[in-house]
Amino acid sequence: MDKPAVFVVFGGTGDLAKKKLAPAFSALLYRKQLPLDSHLIGIARRKMTDAEYKQFLVGAVSDEKMKKCIEATNIHYLPGNFDDSETFSRLRELLNAIDVRKKSLVFYLATSFKFFEIISQHLSEVSLCGRTRKDVKVAFEKPFGESKKSAKELEKCLLKFFREEQVFHVDHYLSKNTIMNIYITKFLNPIVYESLHRELVDRVEIVVDEDVGVGSRAGYYNNAGAIKDMIQSHLIQVLSLLLSDRPDELSPAKISEQKLKVMKSLHVDKRARHVLGQYKSYKRELKSFGLEDRGTETFARVWLECHLRKWKGVKIMLQTGKKLEKKRGFIKVVYRRPQVRHAFKHEQPNELVFHLYPHENVELLLNTLNPIEHSNLFHSSFLFCKECVFGPNTIDAYQILLLEILNNRKDLFASSKEIIEAWRVVEEFDELRNSIPLVYYKDSTPSEKIA
Ligand SMILES: NC(=O)c1ccc[n+]([C@@H]2O[C@H](COP(=O)([O-])OP(=O)(O)OC[C@H]3O[C@@H](n4cnc5c(N)ncnc54)[C@H](OP(=O)(O)O)[C@@H]3O)[C@@H](O)[C@H]2O)c1
Repeated sequence: MDKPAVFVVFGGTGDLAKKKLAPAFSALLYRKQLPLDSHLIGIARRKMTDAEYKQFLVGAVSDEKMKKCIEATNIHYLPGNFDDSETFSRLRELLNAIDVRKKSLVFYLATSFKFFEIISQHLSEVSLCGRTRKDVKVAFEKPFGESKKSAKELEKCLLKFFREEQVFHVDHYLSKNTIMNIYITKFLNPIVYESLHRELVDRVEIVVDEDVGVGSRAGYYNNAGAIKDMIQSHLIQVLSLLLSDRPDELSPAKISEQKLKVMKSLHVDKRARHVLGQYKSYKRELKSFGLEDRGTETFARVWLECHLRKWKGVKIMLQTGKKLEKKRGFIKVVYRRPQVRHAFKHEQPNELVFHLYPHENVELLLNTLNPIEHSNLFHSSFLFCKECVFGPNTIDAYQILLLEILNNRKDLFASSKEIIEAWRVVEEFDELRNSIPLVYYKDSTPSEKIA
């Protein structure tokens, strides 16, 4: 990207800005994917000078060379409240002084969705957005509302101020190497694509287990729970990508059309045994933040079905949870066993696995001959080991998505229609909630033992 960028981060002192945006911004500068004469403007209530904010961002980056890039670029801090129009008048003055006309301007809303309307309203009052400002882009993160109704309201409100092309719904899972690899492996390898349908596939499992608790996100998480936090956004997005048909052209609009077709056909399997759980120390953790338990699930194993003819009858399991034995993540396709009589022992189903954690590998498991005992089969792994080939420092999801926003590419973002449809699935599950008892599990339990 040759053009300097100006990122205005609403919530510039928050966890997201610190953990994700600052490291990604510095890495893009370091890799020369962003010119050093770019700008980052942080906005939040606490008082800080530009120099202090620069130090705050430097402190968020671990690599010495990347720290130097933050030191060398233009960092500004604007203390102010989102409710106060004065904050936005000062922002306008600052942007005039920077002269954004020949730069790419991105508003990154790294704050609760409850502020989106007021921020957009104020930006519009100082003529910084509005449907005529084609050059401006706006990005924001999940949660995209807290129900289907609120997500629809949020979209309606944003579209008063921005055109749809300007709005980027960030689901950083879609920029993860593994998830992008689903897209590539599936759509560009006929051998994989042709194997993905009900005749060959027995089940699909998507698992994202974490070993940590809710930590500083307790306030948000206690209202949301595992299903709204992870399944509504990341897991349903990944599932719909995995089950979608290959369009005749791999353009963002056509891929989104196919994903939406899948999402509209997703339903909760009402006959399945769903599991909701909560780790034992959750209540104690909440108390340290002055919060009360609301019976929130910190673990969910949910079964869905896809009513599209291609996927009818295939079992779909989505699982996610906190304070589990280990951090692991994968998207697994388990194939049906072959319909053939034979005398070999140890036959296992074929599996195609996209690993997220601990390593971003792609693995195919096949039955081959055991070379020592010829009456046995050996479950062989054919592995694409990303780190073995490319080393550990490949480009991170947030670097990719910041670049995608600047380049105006929408392949790796969720559409508003998809988001609303994912809420529909979650609300279908909510109807079953009262019939599912909450299981209490010991901290660091292996997730397969939670039943
Ligand atoms: N953290 C993550 O890894 C992550 C991942 C995915 C999605 N998200 C989403 O991203 C958003 C931000 O998350 P976060 O974890 O960064 O939250 P956070 O740590 O609570 O940060 C919120 C930011 O907004 C500022 N702020 C709050 N109220 C304000 C107001 N009235 N006026 C001006 N500034 C205000 C805060 O600073 P002051 O207190 O100084 O004002 C802070 O900079 C949330 O919607 C979250 O769900 C976060």
